[in-house]
Amino acid sequence: MSNNIQFACKTHDVKPGEPAIVQVNNLPIGIFQIDEDYYAMLNVCPHLGAPVCEGPVSGTTEGCCSGKREFNYVKENELVRCAWHGWEFDIKTGEFLVDPSIKARTYPTSIEGDSVMVHL
Ligand code: FES
Repeated sequence: MSNNIQFACKTHDVKPGEPAIVQVNNLPIGIFQIDEDYYAMLNVCPHLGAPVCEGPVSGTTEGCCSGKREFNYVKENELVRCAWHGWEFDIKTGEFLVDPSIKARTYPTSIEGDSVMVHL
């Protein structure tokens, strides 16, 4: 993990599905909460550079029960969809859902008191 640890926001600035968009060392970063954990993603889409973290946060459907037309809604609040062209990224890993070899830039986080810190 990096030694460059910077304040991003207060924990109460973020709610599940409602990220905080902040500047950390002049980098635009989205801070997301999933359950009790916090995640940081560069607010620049790897496709064409849109502010990806400002898109809707959601989950997705996944097939279940092979051979049947049934789907489960999974990963609620764990995906962000870029507003420009709809690419969906896993907030925890930055992976593009359709092609995990394409990733949004993510950063480790930690909590100090009531502050979310980003490890650049
Ligand atoms: S710029 Fe994000 S999907 Fe195209």
